[in-house]
Amino acid sequence: MKPNVQAFFDPVTGTVSYVVFDRPGGHAAVVDSVLDYDPKSGRTRTTSADRVIGFVRAQGLTVQWILETHAHADHLSAAPYLRRELGGRIAIGAAITRVQDVFKRIFNLEPEFRADGAQFDHLLHDGEAFRIGELQATAMSVPGHTPACMAYQVGDAVFVGDTLFMPDVGTARCDFPGGDAHALYRSVRRLLSLPPATRLFMCHDYPPEGREPAWECTVADQRARNIHIHDGVSEDAFVEMRTKRDATLEMPTLILPSVQVNIRAGEMPPPEANGVSYLKIPVNAL
Ligand SMILES: [Fe+2]
Repeated sequence: MKPNVQAFFDPVTGTVSYVVFDRPGGHAAVVDSVLDYDPKSGRTRTTSADRVIGFVRAQGLTVQWILETHAHADHLSAAPYLRRELGGRIAIGAAITRVQDVFKRIFNLEPEFRADGAQFDHLLHDGEAFRIGELQATAMSVPGHTPACMAYQVGDAVFVGDTLFMPDVGTARCDFPGGDAHALYRSVRRLLSLPPATRLFMCHDYPPEGREPAWECTVADQRARNIHIHDGVSEDAFVEMRTKRDATLEMPTLILPSVQVNIRAGEMPPPEANGVSYLKIPVNAL
C-alpha cells in the first residue's frame, strides 16, 4: 500500500508538514502543521497553513486527522486553524500528559490547565491502528527527543517526527525536559528494523551548506549512511555522542512560545481581561 504524500517545507523553522492521502477526492491526514510566528512582534500568520489548505481543497480531500508527532519546540502548530477550515481530529501521543505536567510547572500555568491531554481530540497509544480513508495507519511510540514522540506508519511510509534527520544531518537532540538519548537510540533502531525500502519522511531538514532541503529517504539509506546512528553504532557510543553534542546546542528560537501553545493543542493561552492572550517567558528556568 503506497499512500500519496505531499510535503510542505517551511524554510523559517526547517519544518516539513505533510498531507498523506489515499487518492484525489479521497481522505487525508495532515502531519505536523506550522503556524507562522514572528517573535519580534508576537504576531501569527497562516501563510504556511494556507498552502496546506490550498492543496487539500485542490485535491478534493476530506481531512480525517490532524496529527502531531510531538509537542514541537521550534514552531507553533496550526492544528486548530486547520480543524476550523478543513475538519478532522487533532491527535498526539498519549504521553503528552507527561510533557504537559513538566511545562505546566515550568510556566506556572493557570490552575485550570489540565495536564491530562483533554485539549486534544484523541490521544494515540503505541501500536494503535487508525484509518485514513482506504489507508491503514499505525501509531509507533518513539520516545527520546521527548517522552511523548510518535511516528506514524501509513502503508510503506513512516512520518518519523524528531527521531532521525536526513542521513547527513543525523538525529534529534535529547536535552529538552523529559528527553533521553538511550530511549532515542532504541526508538531509532525500532524504526530501522522496518523493511529496507520503507519510505521515511523527516519532520525537519537543516541542510548542510550546498545541499537543497530534502526530507525523504529509506530505511536502507539511514542504516547505511546516517552520520549518528548507521548500522554498527552501539547504544553507548550513540549516547556519548548525543550528550556531548547536545551540550553545545542553543535553545531553538521559538521554544518558549512553541511549547506553551503546542501543549494546548495549538491554542493560545486564555485571553486576559483585556481580551489579549499573553505568552510567558520564565527567567533563568530553562
Ligand atoms: Fe521537536
